Amino acid sequence: MTAPLIIQRNVNLQAANTMGLSVSAEYYACLKQHKDLVDVTAYLAEPGLKKPKLHVLGGGSNIIFKGDVQGLVLHIQTKGIYCLKEDEEQITLQVAAGENWDDFVAYCVKQGFSGIENLSLIPGTVGAAPIQNIGAYGQEVSDTIEQVNCIDIFSGNRQIYTQENCEFAYRQSIFKQLNVQGLLVESVVFRLKKHFIPNIKYHPLSIVFKEDLPTLKRVRDAIIDIRNSKLPNPVELANTGSFFQNPIVTKPHLQQLLLLDENIPFYPQSSGDIKLAAGYLIEQCGFKGQLFFDGKVGMHALQALVLVNYGNASAKDVLNLAKKVVDSVFERYQVKLVQEPVLI
Ligand code: EPU
Repeated sequence: MTAPLIIQRNVNLQAANTMGLSVSAEYYACLKQHKDLVDVTAYLAEPGLKKPKLHVLGGGSNIIFKGDVQGLVLHIQTKGIYCLKEDEEQITLQVAAGENWDDFVAYCVKQGFSGIENLSLIPGTVGAAPIQNIGAYGQEVSDTIEQVNCIDIFSGNRQIYTQENCEFAYRQSIFKQLNVQGLLVESVVFRLKKHFIPNIKYHPLSIVFKEDLPTLKRVRDAIIDIRNSKLPNPVELANTGSFFQNPIVTKPHLQQLLLLDENIPFYPQSSGDIKLAAGYLIEQCGFKGQLFFDGKVGMHALQALVLVNYGNASAKDVLNLAKKVVDSVFERYQVKLVQEPVLI
C-alpha cells in the first residue's frame, strides 16, 4: 500500500531553503513517489477548485523567498536511478528529480562513471541541476545531459526536452525562461563515460594534480577539499552559494575596466565576449567579510560572491544587502550584477 498524497496548510519552509528564511507556504505537498505526481494532477483537476499558484521546490539551495508563499508549494523528493543503456564506452542513466545531487555524483564516482565529478558537493537536487545549468571547476552539467523529462502537473502531459532543446548556456537554460506554471522536471537522463578522462585544467585543480595521479575518486576528493576550504557549508552557515552570476561584458568594456584596474581577472568566451569574476569586483568594493544590518547578513570572508545569513535575517535584509552590492559594483565598474538565486 502506498501512502496517499497529503496537502498541508501553513507549513514553515525554514528547513527547506538553505538561506534559512522563515516563511510559510499557504499549501504544501511533499512528492516522494511517482504516484504523488499523478495524485497532484488529479487534485488540481477537481471540479470547482480554483487553480492555485504553483511553486516547485527541490533542495531549496537556489531560492530566496520574498515573504510568505501564496499558493501550493510542491517539494520534489522522488528517488530512483535507472540504467537505460550501457556499452563498453558509456552508460545512460535516468535519475528522478528529487535525488540529492551530490549523492548522485558520489554514486557515479563509486561506479566509475565520469563527467560530473567536478560538480561534487554542489547543493540541491538532480531536477534543479539543468534549470540553472550548474557548473564548477571547468564542467557544466549540460555536457552530460541527454534529455530532461518534464510533466505538466495541470494536465498530466509529459514533455521531453532533448539536449538541443534545452538551450543551455552559462547558468542558463530554456527552463529558466519558460516560466510555465505547472511544468516541472520529473527526471533527467545523463550520458556518462566509463573511461575516465580527467578535466583538471582549472587552476586550483591543476596545482593539486601537478604530481599526483588524477583518478576519478581523487578528483572528487580534491574538489570537495577545495570547496570546503572556501565555500561555507549551508548546514552551518545559511547561504545559497554564488549569489550573483559572473558578468559577461564586451571587449571594449573590458579595455576600459583594465584602465581602471589592471588586475581584474577575465576569461574570454567562445562568443568573443568576456566573463568577469563577480567575487573579485565585490571584494574590491569592500564587501568581503563585512557584516550588515546588525550582523545578520554579509558577503563571506573567503568568497565574496556568497551572501550569508548569519542568523535570523529576513528576506528584506538579504535583498537590501544584495542591492547595496549591485549598486556599489555598478558605481565603480559600470557592470550590472545579475542575481543567481530565483526570487519567489
Ligand atoms: N575572487 C576574488 N575574490 C573573491 C572571490 C573570487 O578576487 O572573494 C577571484 C578569484 O581570485 C579568481 C576569480 O575571482 O581570480 C574566480 O574565483 P573562483 O575560482 O572562486 O570562482 P568564481 O567565478 O567566483 C564560479 C562559480 C562557483 C564555482 C566556482 C569554481 C559562478 C557564479 N560561480 O565562482 O559556483 O564553484 O566558479 O568553478 O559561476 C555556485 O554557483 O554556487 C558556485 C559556488
